[in-house]
Amino acid sequence: MSETEQIFADRMLSLGLARVSEQAAIAAAKLIGRGDEKAADQAAVDAMRKQLNLLDIRGVVVIGEGERDEAPMLYIGEEVGSGKGPAVDIALDPLEGTTLTAKDMPNALAVIAMGPRGSMLHAPDVYMEKLAIGPGYARDVVSLNMTATERIHALARAKGVEPNGIMVCVLERPRHEKLVAEIRATGARIRLITDGDVAGVIHVAEPEKTGIDMYMGSGGAPEGVLAAAALKCMGGQMWGKLLFRNDDERERARKAGIGDLDRIYTRDEMVTQDVIFAATGVTDGSIVQGARRDGEWLETETILMRSKTGSLRRIIYRQRNQ
Ligand code: FBP
Repeated sequence: MSETEQIFADRMLSLGLARVSEQAAIAAAKLIGRGDEKAADQAAVDAMRKQLNLLDIRGVVVIGEGERDEAPMLYIGEEVGSGKGPAVDIALDPLEGTTLTAKDMPNALAVIAMGPRGSMLHAPDVYMEKLAIGPGYARDVVSLNMTATERIHALARAKGVEPNGIMVCVLERPRHEKLVAEIRATGARIRLITDGDVAGVIHVAEPEKTGIDMYMGSGGAPEGVLAAAALKCMGGQMWGKLLFRNDDERERARKAGIGDLDRIYTRDEMVTQDVIFAATGVTDGSIVQGARRDGEWLETETILMRSKTGSLRRIIYRQRNQ
């Protein structure tokens, strides 16, 4: 394939990826507010898989619904796509925010990222300590080795504000009570989210729009890799460290090929090559609007981004509401 043909193929593939997340979001949206996390997730998984298999790729799911014995579909290692075309890694979360969807709360997304084979960290389904800031700061101005207080002071200095000019996004969990108290003691403000830390991290990339300067705390490691893919496209720094609660989790990491269990990964170590990232809103959120019904039409909003060019498209799609 010539270089021009390759560029064209890449671009077409990125549009294909938007179709994948659109259909997952539409399927899940039919179950918004129904109190059934599993059904919403299943609907999104089915729709995402169907669309993914229409793409001309030789894809392997590296971040998926779980390990083969736990997930009947889109499990880690599953081969997806038509079997023709480029060899790629796929990271996906057909419904990021199952509870948000079940309860009709903001920021549930259908998310997918694609990069060349071997480009994404095979993060096991354990927790990850995450830290993220937006674009425009010096490299390593904050780090996971700093305390929360040190991070806030360092970021405030870099931004040219007092700590009360910093807004930190944190998942509201009992395990974060101490972290929240420490952040508040500095004078910084906190946006607590109940779920959905892919969106939480993405918020730091557009601080003027979201008001969020920094993301901190632990959440799912697979979601960490997806967030790293998004920030690679949008700009911003991110660090992640896997957290293990027991030997079983350590074993999962070893099985996934992770040698150094204490390693801190930067954004570009989680996602080592250029990626395409698509996210479609299921419920309304600060990044994209949710899927909405308008008479006989169903409408979605998707952000589609390519790290190679830094391009970001907002795609409004509508189809007949069947
Ligand atoms: P689900 O969509 O699988 O419900 O995950 C939502 C989520 O909030 C993620 O965004 C986050 O990384 C993870 O759950 C946090 O896990 P926990 O609820 O165990 O703290």
